[in-house]
Amino acid sequence: MLRDTLIALSGSSAAKSVVTKTPLRGMARRFVPGETVDDLIGAMREANAEGLTATGNYLGESVHDEANARHAADIYLKVLDRIEAEGLRANVSLKFTQLGQDIGEGFLASNLGRVLERAKAIGTFVRFDMEGSDYTQRTLDAFEKLWAQGWRNIGVVLQSYMKRSAGDVARMNELGARVRLCKGAYVEPPSVAFQDRKNVDDSFVELTRTLLAHGNYPAIATHDEAMIAAAVDFQQSEGIGKDAFEFQMLHGVRRDLQTQLVGDGYRVRAYIPFGEHWYPYLMRRLAERPANMLFFAGSVVKESPLGFLWPGGKDGARAGDGSGDGARG
Ligand code: FDA
Repeated sequence: MLRDTLIALSGSSAAKSVVTKTPLRGMARRFVPGETVDDLIGAMREANAEGLTATGNYLGESVHDEANARHAADIYLKVLDRIEAEGLRANVSLKFTQLGQDIGEGFLASNLGRVLERAKAIGTFVRFDMEGSDYTQRTLDAFEKLWAQGWRNIGVVLQSYMKRSAGDVARMNELGARVRLCKGAYVEPPSVAFQDRKNVDDSFVELTRTLLAHGNYPAIATHDEAMIAAAVDFQQSEGIGKDAFEFQMLHGVRRDLQTQLVGDGYRVRAYIPFGEHWYPYLMRRLAERPANMLFFAGSVVKESPLGFLWPGGKDGARAGDGSGDGARG
């Protein structure tokens, strides 16, 4: 219920103006290192220094005018230039609707083409995030079109809450396309998505096994220790190499787990979002873990007109906030 409310608020312009016009925006710093390319690159550098690879996401979706969609592509080009210039172990993740899918498939193809060309030129990869179920088929169709054109430095995301995902995983495995598996972050109707946590988790474990056994370098994107344990158990029992897949986690969430997995010899990629459109992203992270709301409420009390300092400091990680030090939600 709270989850649905928060996700609904992520699309509310009234709520957005309250949150983004107050120093509460500091709350977002736990999940979003900043608004500029420099902020992203700094966070990528830190991730690499900790043994993590990174993927950078310029926050934004549902862009309906060409200038803004072109601007988003320009930002990704800057990010790719910096990744190359600094020799970072990093790639990018983007949303089709941010680059103009709703404007037209032709516009999307040319705008996105610039990003894919540059990524290819520097030998890196572009992941297409998966959006709400209205976009699932369109996203996969657009992906397959790019694949048919010969692009290979691209990959999709599939969500375990979607009932169709077993078929989509099989299709992507057949193509040899790289899949990121996550649980899914949007509110979806029972007609298309499992509503029960157990069903979503069972589906995640099943799809993880299929991807590990038959996929092309899958990414298992979760902070759920049970899902991670299921992946590790399967990988070990099947004798699959630790370099045949990677775990992925969000910047600022369960850093302790990220470090532990790296220490155990697993590959871990941090998903690092940045940019001025952090509001819907923050609301989705709050929705995933209602305990985060306590920190949100706490931040109101601690607000000062002189500016907001997140209690975890630079790391944003504190015992009890679920992002580090073994804290569990
Ligand atoms: P779950 O929500 O069950 O959480 C398990 C545990 O993880 C919690 O008990 C808590 O300890 C910790 N945790 C999880 N979220 C937290 C938070 N916000 N704050 C603090 N602790 C938290 N979704 C989508 O629809 N399309 C996409 O393209 C992507 N892409 C993506 C990339 C990457 C790298 C990740 C990690 C996730 C996504 N997601 C996504 C989001 C995903 O669908 C899902 O909403 C979140 O990952 C939360 O699900 P978990 O698997 O972590 O499990």
